[in-house]
Amino acid sequence: MPVNFLTSVFFEGPQVIPYWEQIKEYGPTVIPIGVSLAALKYYFRGSTNTWERDMHGKVFIVTGGTSGLGQQIIYELGTRGAQLILLTRRTNDAWLAEYIEDMRDRCNNPLIFAEECDLASLYSVRKFATSWLDNTPPRRLDGVICCAAECIPRGKPRQITTDGVERQIGVNYLGHYQLLTLIAPSLRVQPPDRDVRVVIATCSSQNLGDVDEQDLLWDKKRYPSTQPWKVYGTSKLLLGLFAREFQSQLMTYERKDLTPCNVRVNLVNPGLLRSPSMRRTLSMGTVWGLILYLLMYPIWWLCLKSLNQGAQSFYFALFAPMLMKIDGGVSIQECKINTKVRKEYSDEELCKRVFEQTEKLIKELETRSAIERKKNTTKEEQEKEGKKKRDLAVKPTTTDELQSKLDVLRSSIGKELPLFPDESALKASGVTKSNVKKRGGSKKA
Ligand SMILES: NC(=O)c1ccc[n+]([C@@H]2O[C@H](COP(=O)([O-])OP(=O)(O)OC[C@H]3O[C@@H](n4cnc5c(N)ncnc54)[C@H](OP(=O)(O)O)[C@@H]3O)[C@@H](O)[C@H]2O)c1
Repeated sequence: MPVNFLTSVFFEGPQVIPYWEQIKEYGPTVIPIGVSLAALKYYFRGSTNTWERDMHGKVFIVTGGTSGLGQQIIYELGTRGAQLILLTRRTNDAWLAEYIEDMRDRCNNPLIFAEECDLASLYSVRKFATSWLDNTPPRRLDGVICCAAECIPRGKPRQITTDGVERQIGVNYLGHYQLLTLIAPSLRVQPPDRDVRVVIATCSSQNLGDVDEQDLLWDKKRYPSTQPWKVYGTSKLLLGLFAREFQSQLMTYERKDLTPCNVRVNLVNPGLLRSPSMRRTLSMGTVWGLILYLLMYPIWWLCLKSLNQGAQSFYFALFAPMLMKIDGGVSIQECKINTKVRKEYSDEELCKRVFEQTEKLIKELETRSAIERKKNTTKEEQEKEGKKKRDLAVKPTTTDELQSKLDVLRSSIGKELPLFPDESALKASGVTKSNVKKRGGSKKA
């Protein structure tokens, strides 16, 4: 059929092409526009990973696996048979249970789980890490994928984590710092023939961030609500410095079997994507912004990558064998190593100082939060204890409880009575047998 058609065009001329008149009229305008749009779409899709790796049975911890880029990555790894442990803010959530069930069905992989680890709480991260490490023999771990992030839209006030740190720095930087440094023993102990890869999502906004050693966590400076990307960028920049220092610490660690370090920590910049966080940023978290975002959707569709396109550099970081042959701490973008990075990354002393300073700050924050928790727990416990003591239906287990219950009984009679009153004491207090019976009767009623 196409051959017949092409033959007739060749011998009879282009007028045999359907709508030839319209094509002649509008073609010179429409065709270049169409070609330009197609070229733009092709350009913005970014590079595609070409490496393959058998993921069957490999174990990955993933942060941010419930949305956007993280969701796309766990779908890919899940489909390839990897065991995935998603770290989520909470696990007692019907939506999450359904999400995990759905992901298991879609990937045809029952080895997808969720564990509670709220990156906005250093204590929650510590609880998860402790339970992860508390295992003999040590658990298999082939890598950690850090995709979770908080990105506060423009115009919103400063938000803080459970530990009182600015939220973007707290979740994006401190949460991941705490997680990776606490589970470091698990990374270091993996057998030497295993490729262990830590992949950390970064962002071009790190170019807008700044390392202020006097105020690392943006605690003293005014929060720039009209330019929150500065704080977000700072969180990603600090995360980058952390990755460099963490990698060099892993490299200098001497394994008991004297084999070289088999852990690589790399940064991945996925480019700009049509993800929930991008939608929130562009719509500035408002309904009007969302309407505008929807109206302008063709532009976003053209210029922003899909989740799968954005995930390609992550697949490269997880699959490419050559990344295990070079030192880690590199920045990956468009499925290749990006050499144009912030100059701070090559300042080893700065990376070290920032790492150590953060360690100290985390210690202080954890101590402060522990005291706060203790106070709250004590208050709660005191209330619970008091209720138990006052409740006459609960059998007393200590003399203290017995005394409290007698006090409650006495106060209900309204008179001061000895513990075991005799007739005269009862008479003196005005309690007669008849009114005791009445009290008993009214209780029964
Ligand atoms: N989108 C882009 O254009 C772009 C560009 C460059 C880099 N990146 C980076 O790519 C990564 C993924 O971005 P995205 O756009 O896909 O983000 P997203 O859709 O907003 O997803 C963020 C994820 O982080 C999780 N999260 C947030 N706070 C958390 C906490 N306290 N504890 C545990 N998990 C928490 C969220 O969990 P919930 O489901 O519970 O909210 C969610 O799964 C981020 O690191 C981002 O910086 C994105």
